[in-house]
Order: sequence, then C-alpha cells, then structure tokens
Amino acid sequence: MPNVDMSVTLAGVTLKNPVVVASGTFGFGREYNQFYDLGELGGICAKGLTLHRREGNPAPRIAETPMGILNSVGLQNPGVDAFIEGELPFLRQFDTKVIANISGNTPEEYGVMCEKLSGAGVDMIEVNISCPNVKAGGLAYGTRPELAAEVTKVAKAHAGKTPVMVKLSPNVTDVTEIAKAVADAGADALSLINTLRGMRIDVNTGRPILKMNTGGLSGPAVLPVAVRMVWEVSCALPGMPILGMGGVSKGEDAAQLMLAGASAVAVGTALFADPYAPISVRDGLEQIAARKGLSKVSELTGGERTLGAGGLPCVSHIPHPGKFFVGRSRHAGGTDRLYPAPDHLHLRADGHFRGGGVRPPGLLALLPGAGQPHAPGREVRAGQRPGHQPGV
Ligand SMILES: Cc1cc2nc3c(=O)[nH]c(=O)nc-3n(C[C@H](O)[C@H](O)[C@H](O)COP(=O)(O)O)c2cc1C
Repeated sequence: MPNVDMSVTLAGVTLKNPVVVASGTFGFGREYNQFYDLGELGGICAKGLTLHRREGNPAPRIAETPMGILNSVGLQNPGVDAFIEGELPFLRQFDTKVIANISGNTPEEYGVMCEKLSGAGVDMIEVNISCPNVKAGGLAYGTRPELAAEVTKVAKAHAGKTPVMVKLSPNVTDVTEIAKAVADAGADALSLINTLRGMRIDVNTGRPILKMNTGGLSGPAVLPVAVRMVWEVSCALPGMPILGMGGVSKGEDAAQLMLAGASAVAVGTALFADPYAPISVRDGLEQIAARKGLSKVSELTGGERTLGAGGLPCVSHIPHPGKFFVGRSRHAGGTDRLYPAPDHLHLRADGHFRGGGVRPPGLLALLPGAGQPHAPGREVRAGQRPGHQPGV
C-alpha cells in the first residue's frame, strides 16, 4: 500500500481525504450508505437546501448526453429545518465532514439559512449562487459580481464561525471576476464548477426533451472546462482554497483539478453510474501521489506550477503580468507555487519583500535560497517560467 498522507485542509477544515461528494448527486447519503461506510469520504455536500420545502421542476428533468447528463431538477428539497431535524443527525453518525449547500431567493434568505445551519453545527456551508435551474435568485447571483458579493457578505455575517464556501457558475465569460468579488466579500473558500447550461431537442417531436427546455450539463464532458476554470481562479487568487469539481470519475481527473489548484475535489454525476466512484477516485489519487513520490496528497495542489514543467505561466488573468515569485500558501497545504507579484511589492533575493510591507493573502513563507529550480527573488518575465524555457 502506498504511504501517502491523504488528509487535506479546506478553509481551515481538515478532511481525512480530498474526496467529497457533490451537492445534489448524493441526496442526504442514506441510499449510498447501503454500499459503504460514509466515513470513507472526505466530506459530504448535502443536497441543495432552500429556506422552505421545494418540489422542484416538472419531469422530464434528466436527459442523457454524450459523456454527461442534463438536469433541471430545480432544487427539490425538504427545506432547511427538515434537514436539520431529520437528516443532519443521520449524517453526523459518520466520521466525515458535513457541508450544507444552500440557495436563496434573496440575500436575506441566505442569511437566515446560514444562521440556522451554523447553529446546528454543520462543518461548512456551501453557498450556491450558480443554479441554472431556478427562476428567482439562482444563476443571477452567480453571474453578477456585485450580487455575488452581496450574498457572500450576508452569508458570512450570519454564519458565525462556520466557514463559507461560495459555489461559482461556469456560465460566465470571466470566472475570475466573480471569484475576486466573492473573495473580497470574505468567502473562506470557492467551489467550482456548477453545471453548464445546455439543451437537447427531440428531433421527432421538434420539442426540447427537458420540460424546462434547458438544463445543466455535468459529467465527463465538462472536466476540461472545470480544470481550466479552477486553474484560472487559482492563478488569479493564489492561496484561496478551492473545491474543484466537474466530470470527475477517476483518480486522474481529480489529480488534474488538484494540479490546477484545487485543495479537494467533489465527485457528482459519476455516482449515478457507479456508487463507489468516490472511493476509487480516492484510491486513484493516492496511487498517483505515491507514483510522484509525494508524502502528502496535498502536495498535488497547484502542482501545475511547481511539479510540472513546460507550459506558459498563467498570465492571462494576472493584473500585472511580468513578475512572479515562488511562495508557500497557508491554504494549499504548504505547497510551493508560482505567484504573480503585485506591482508595489518587490521581492529581494533573501526572500523578503521590500516596500509596502504588505504580504499577499495566504502567503506564509518563501522558498529558501538560490539554487532551487524556482529560486525566490528571481523575476520572471511574462511568457517564461522560472527554470524553463517558454513552451518547452
Ligand atoms: C442531478 C443534479 C443535481 C444537482 N443539484 C445541485 C444542488 O442542489 N446544489 C448545487 O450546488 N449543485 C448541484 N448540482 C451540481 C453538482 O454539485 C456539480 O457542481 C456538477 O454536477 C458538476 O460535477 P459533476 O460533473 O461531477 O456532476 C447538481 C448536479 C446534478 C447532476
């Protein structure tokens, strides 16, 4: 057996392994408990909750697609109080972290739910501002930075000590814009991606297959989009903890998201084909980490910038391309990674900053001394990567 420390930290919460089940694809865990001990999982994102019970959208609300599914379930759930009374005690029996997922029609509703859930002792709250299948709130909050920030502020103000993770939508032109707004508003972590809006039409009837016409695409088809978006957000917000998801069905998929910058990963649609998918993803990740000679799986996080070699550094969303330094993130399990340097900071050869005295959030320490492949203090021009030729 590989000897890899599988624990990771997400917004200050320690998960025994990086594999979480994605909201809406695992119910409240009761069905899956027939297959294995839910304590095998790093965490459980419970089905999306609203303040009051919801019936969801009319059927048909699931349609198969090549390499994925479209769903327009529309947040069918018993309401937050019924969850706290009837479901949370069941989930609490297992040695795993419980993450409540919430959606509101107004910022105030998010606030009320956060207060209730924090009081009930969930380990984390995932604020869904990205559901494409509901009319009020839903996607509108996730596509407009100012609304996303407002919801985040209200959630944080009512969540007490419970960490707040905000779930981002892929249905935007620039995901980093929303990510930054939400981070500035105080989010403790980000999760991404939710489903991509899509549509299928029945050629015989000429009508859409889903009753609601459109739905959210998930499954293996969306993995490359998820990897790209996690990478962009991780580059734009170094040190921000990320729960990556979208199309993960095996260890390699999860490793891609972690290398792109995720601290942990969620498995969703894959569960419908194989209830054991999260377990095989966890075991696959362990083997990949062992193969790379890592003692901790958390060292994969952001490894695209440190373990790998070749591609260009992620300059497309860096406000001041041209300067990079290597730092160690508090949130990313101590992984060394490449950071963009804001213009007002100058890095000295000894690894300290000159001027401003400000340290970018999440930065704890710089790598020691010269001679390292990514030596600190060395300025790197856009289009280059320390120690490597561009594009090699
Ligand atoms: C049937 C279904 C229901 C979902 N319900 C929710 C939900 O209630 N809240 C939420 O934040 N995301 C929900 N999602 C999105 C997933 O949590 C996840 O972000 C998305 O499916 C991408 O991951 P995957 O490709 O592994 O499924 C749902 C997805 C599916 C397929």
